[in-house]
Amino acid sequence: MGQQLGRRSWAEPWKIKMVEPIHMISREERQKAIEKAGFNTFLLRSEEVYIDLLTDSGTSAMSDRQWAGIMLGDESYAGSRNFYHLEEAVQSYYGYKYVVPTHQGRGAEHLISQAVIKPGMFVPGNMYFTTTRLHQELAGGTFVDVIIDDAHEPSNTHPFKGNIDLDKLQALIDKVGADRIAYVSLAGTVNMAGGQPVSMANLRALRELCDKHGIRIYLDATRMVENCFFIQEREDGYADYSIAGILKEFCSNTDGAWMSSKKDHLVNIGGWLAVNQEDVFDLARNMVIIYEGLHTYGGMAGRDMEALAIGIAESVNDEHVRSRVEQVRYLGQLLIDWGVPLMCPVGGHAVFLDAKQMYPHIPQNKFPAQTLAVELYLDSGVRSMERGIVSAGRDPDTGDHRYPALELTRLAIPRRVYTQAHMDVVAESVKAVFDNRESSLGLKMVREPQYLRFFQARFERIQPDVDG
Ligand SMILES: Cc1ncc(COP(=O)(O)O)c(C=O)c1O
Repeated sequence: MGQQLGRRSWAEPWKIKMVEPIHMISREERQKAIEKAGFNTFLLRSEEVYIDLLTDSGTSAMSDRQWAGIMLGDESYAGSRNFYHLEEAVQSYYGYKYVVPTHQGRGAEHLISQAVIKPGMFVPGNMYFTTTRLHQELAGGTFVDVIIDDAHEPSNTHPFKGNIDLDKLQALIDKVGADRIAYVSLAGTVNMAGGQPVSMANLRALRELCDKHGIRIYLDATRMVENCFFIQEREDGYADYSIAGILKEFCSNTDGAWMSSKKDHLVNIGGWLAVNQEDVFDLARNMVIIYEGLHTYGGMAGRDMEALAIGIAESVNDEHVRSRVEQVRYLGQLLIDWGVPLMCPVGGHAVFLDAKQMYPHIPQNKFPAQTLAVELYLDSGVRSMERGIVSAGRDPDTGDHRYPALELTRLAIPRRVYTQAHMDVVAESVKAVFDNRESSLGLKMVREPQYLRFFQARFERIQPDVDG
């Protein structure tokens, strides 16, 4: 099965030195747990979960070197040497001039949004991300999706589904004027589109268009090394480049980046904002002390910054990135072979199940992707996350649900944590839920928080005779 397909297999470039026991509770206990959690996988306790694919954020296993770095923490309030290691790593691998540390990605999103967006401005981007768009809206901006149409079609196998549609961007510029565009918000890879990459050619063309109109490009670099792997694999002329080389070239076409280091950088906490403009840096460095901490720690302990600086160097290792993406693909391919509908091609950090196709009998306002996450948990204790109508939230102007084209349930794979056997268990559980798909009826939302509702909303099961 799987890798035994008559070809040579890959293997992870590490061996396991320490383990954390996990345990599957009984079906009755899982039933009680998910009811208590309001049918929201975010509200489960981790002890109630067997294989945790809720997120790849902050859930990676650190290396022995990173743990050694933890012991080298310089916990001085100001001027910690670990900050300078971090600054050097960002400058050397990403190539930006100025670095502001933050506690995680959304801290950096807050800073860049407040520093650059004025009320009434527009922020075009390659599909929204939940926290990114909210920070852009809270700063008075309006996000406009300018990703290529292919990204909204799960079975479309375009190799760079994260690309920007330059005609859509040009149309926005013509409509509102370049001076009302705060910046282009470019994510590599695109989380909500299934971890899909942006090509170097698309970025170059984007750079040219933006230069013509004096518009800046800021990059969400959270999963950029995975994006670089896809460029190396799929884009003409890059097969002999290293991940590090592609990363440097990609970033050189942008004006700055924000980073959730909890992903690519193999740490449990941390992030940064890095820019090339001194004025934006000055503003962000001043603001970070209000919201995060002094500009030489930004909410991280010295030890966190040391582990992060080491993690940056490890994250661009070609063998590491390959094995990380191939593990995700291994799970995806098992499911494709069994006819389970999912977002294609399989992306960099997760397999995204297509709940719309799996449950054609459940309308989107009865939350098919949330339902699928619940069924999967009940079947095997595997925890996943809704990435559909619940995550999309409500339109701030009309107050109605936003109805995204994609209604997905995400199985995110933490880095260096689970084995191929875990992937087999997950795949078999998805298959069992898929085979039993007609019995699922959907959910109704009974508690809805104002911001980022997917984290804390509560649901109840639809009862056939009561709810129709
Ligand atoms: C693409 C993307 N951008 C930004 C963030 C925000 O980062 P954080 O969770 O560290 O605040 C995330 C986190 O999930 C993400 O996936």
